[in-house]
Amino acid sequence: MEQVEKTIDEKRQGKPLLTEVREGNNKKLFIESYGCQMNMNDSEIVAAILAEQGFNTTGNIEEADLVLVNTCSIREKAEQTVRNRLQKYNHAKKRNPKMKVGVLGCMAERLKAKFLEEEKIVDLVVGPDAYRDLPNLVEEVEAGRDAVNVILSKEETYADVSPVRLNSNGVSAFVSITRGCDNMCTFCVVPFTRGRERSRDPQSIVEEIRSLHDKNFKEVTLLGQNVDSYLWYGGGLKKDFKKASEIAKATAVDFAQLLDMCATEFPKMRFRFSTSNPQDMTLDVIHIMAKHKNICKYIHLPIQSGSNAMLKAMNRLHTREEYLTLVENIYKIIPEMNLSQDMITGFCGETEEDHKDTLDLMEKVKYSFGFMFAYSERPGTLAAKKMIDDIPLDVKKRRLQEVINLQQEHSLFRTQQHVGKIQEVLIEGTSKKSDAHWKGRNTQNTVVVFPKENYKMGDFVNVKIEDCTSTTLRGTAVGYSDNN
Ligand code: SAH
Ligand code: F3S
Repeated sequence: MEQVEKTIDEKRQGKPLLTEVREGNNKKLFIESYGCQMNMNDSEIVAAILAEQGFNTTGNIEEADLVLVNTCSIREKAEQTVRNRLQKYNHAKKRNPKMKVGVLGCMAERLKAKFLEEEKIVDLVVGPDAYRDLPNLVEEVEAGRDAVNVILSKEETYADVSPVRLNSNGVSAFVSITRGCDNMCTFCVVPFTRGRERSRDPQSIVEEIRSLHDKNFKEVTLLGQNVDSYLWYGGGLKKDFKKASEIAKATAVDFAQLLDMCATEFPKMRFRFSTSNPQDMTLDVIHIMAKHKNICKYIHLPIQSGSNAMLKAMNRLHTREEYLTLVENIYKIIPEMNLSQDMITGFCGETEEDHKDTLDLMEKVKYSFGFMFAYSERPGTLAAKKMIDDIPLDVKKRRLQEVINLQQEHSLFRTQQHVGKIQEVLIEGTSKKSDAHWKGRNTQNTVVVFPKENYKMGDFVNVKIEDCTSTTLRGTAVGYSDNN
C-alpha cells in the first residue's frame, strides 16, 4: 500500500545479489540488500572488498560461508522486515552450522553491539563507514569471535573501491557521489546512521563512470542522500568548507559542475541523480539539465508535507511558497520535466488543515509519482525526543490513502501527456508481463513497454507511445534513436 510504483531497482530488494564468479575464489557469500539505492550500491562495494578476500557470491544460502544483510532503519516496518529475514536464516544455519551471519548498514549502526544480544544468530555488525574493515572482521568471526565496527568516518567515500555490479542488467548502474546527511530533518534517522555529509573526489567519480562506459553501460544514476549539496574542495566534511583555503574554495566543484563534467565527458550515456533536497537545489542545476540532452528530465524532489507548520516542525529549511516558486522555475526552464515526491502523513501535530495543504500542493505540482508513508517514529531523532507522535494510526492511514489516491490521478495525468509522442527509450530488460516485449524508461523515468522486434538490451530506441496506465506507457518502436 505504501508505494504507487516500484522502480526497476527496487525489484532487487531482498533478493540474493549475484555477480560473475572470480577464478580462484573458494568461499561463498550470500548477500542481500534492503532499503535505498545507496544501500544497494554499498552492497556492491562490500562484494568488491570481499571478492579480494576469496569470496564469490551465491544464490543458495545453504552453501554460504558468510551471509550478509544490508539493512534499513528508515521506518519501523523496514527494521521488522530485516528481523523476520534473520529468523529465516536460522533455518539455514541449522543445516549449515559453519555459516556466519553479518548485518550491515543503518540498522547495524543504530543498534550496534545490542544487535548481537537481540538477534542471537548475528555474528558480525558493520556500520556503513566500516566496510573497509571487513577483511579483519570476517577473520575474527571465522575464528569464532563476534565482531563489531560501527565507527562513522569524516572522510570515507570508498572512492578507490571499484564496486562489483550485483544482479546488474549491464545497462544501468549507480555511482555514489556523497555519503551521509547534514540536514537533520527531525523525523529522520539517516544523519545518525550514515553520519556527516562528505563528497567524493570528482575525478574518481568520472573514472568509475569511464569503467562503466567501457563495459557498455548506458545509464548512470548519481547517488547521495542529498546530491545537490555535493561539494568537493579537496576532501573533508561539507560543514568544514568555510575553513578551507582560498585556493580550495576557488577550485571547488559543486553539483551543477559535476553534472556538467559527467554529461560532457560521456555524451552517449544517460545521467540521472537522486535525491534532491529542495533547500539545496539551485537553478544552475536546472540550466545544466537543459543544456545536456543526456541528463534525464526528471527530478525526485521530496517535500514531505505541503504545510508550512509541518515543514517547520520537520526542520525542512524552506516554505511551501519557496518550493512552489522553485517548481515553477523548473517547469519554466524545462517544460517537459517530471517531478516525483516523498510525503509523510500524520507527522506530529498534523491537523486536517495541514493535510489539506499537502493535497493542495500536490494539485499544483502534479507529480509523476511518489513514495508515500505514514509517519513512523524513529528512536533517537529530534521528533522522538521533543515531539509527541499524536496522530492515531487510523488517521495517518486514511490521510496516506488520500495522498496515494490523488497521486494515482496525477500519475495518470502525467502518463497521458506522453501518448501520441515519439520518445527515446533505453532498453533495460524484458517486460515482466510478456517475454515478447522490452521494457525501458523515457527521459522522464516513466516505464515504457513495446514489442521486441530486433532490438537489443542497451539500445536507445524511438518509441511511438500509443497507450498508458498510471504507471506504464505502451508503444511501438519506430527505429533507433541517434544516440546509438
Ligand atoms: N534524502 C534521502 C531521504 C532518505 S529517507 C534520500 O536520498 O532519499 C526517504 C524517505 O523516507 C524520506 O524522504 C521520507 O519521506 C521517508 N521517511 C524518512 N523518515 C521517515 C519516518 N520516520 N517515517 C516515515 N517516513 C520517513
Ligand atoms: Fe533524512 Fe532529511 Fe537527510 S530526510 S536523509 S535528514 S535530507
